[in-house]
Amino acid sequence: MHTTEVAAALKGAKHVAILTGSGISAESGVPTFRDAQTGLWSKFKPEDLATPEAFRRNPKLVWEWYAWRRELVTGAQPNAGHLALVELEQRVPEFTLITQNVDGLHQRAGSHNVIELHGNINRTKCFEEDIAVTEWKETGDSPPRCPRCGGRLRPDVVWFGESLRPEAIEGALMASRRCDVFLSVGTSTLVHPAASLPFEAAEGGAIVIEINTDTTPLTARAAFQLRGPAARVLPELLRAAWPE
Ligand code: APR
Repeated sequence: MHTTEVAAALKGAKHVAILTGSGISAESGVPTFRDAQTGLWSKFKPEDLATPEAFRRNPKLVWEWYAWRRELVTGAQPNAGHLALVELEQRVPEFTLITQNVDGLHQRAGSHNVIELHGNINRTKCFEEDIAVTEWKETGDSPPRCPRCGGRLRPDVVWFGESLRPEAIEGALMASRRCDVFLSVGTSTLVHPAASLPFEAAEGGAIVIEINTDTTPLTARAAFQLRGPAARVLPELLRAAWPE
């Protein structure tokens, strides 16, 4: 049974790095990125909304799509998978949580050392100036306008075709290369550069473990695969490593 071996690796680890994707939030009711969209939004593909071109073409549509997603996230609660990672941070000497998720659920669960590779849907920035904006006047404009320059406001997330913040990707790369155990949880391992992190970890000699309901391009390269929902597999792993 892989769980026993993975639990032993975790227990002996000095530095655990983790990459999470939208699969870890699935059990919180936040739909994964590539899931079919529901209701009003079912006729749009996320790949056609989450781009600077889409925003330039139809800013109102993109802003409202994110407003809908923000509402979903606000109503969601961290699940047992998020909570298991909070416990893991307390158990191991060094811990780096790298997430592609923009839902902020890791921090709401209580994780501290979190690198948000793709930003956070609850933050807003100016599309023109690329600076954080925390307050603005609601004038009926959708999207609202930047109080400094009058430019359009947008969510502070990384869209397709945009670069990641250098300090985020550099921190993630460094942790991936230095860790001795790397967990890849609930990500399709398709979107680069995040998708390269588990491969960097394997190159660096880390034990790479994949937790996913399905196979991905990482599956063949991972030392262990734990098949199943993160909200079940992660708590099981923690209990196997540190039985109470
Ligand atoms: N537990 C574990 N894994 C799950 C679960 C679950 N309950 N449910 C789904 N999964 C897996 C799926 O099998 C899939 O491999 O989670 C993965 C979700 O994949 P994507 O929807 O592609 O999400 P993600 O990997 O986070 O996407 C990466 O792409 O669109 C961009 O910026 C966006 O951050 C996102 C990035």
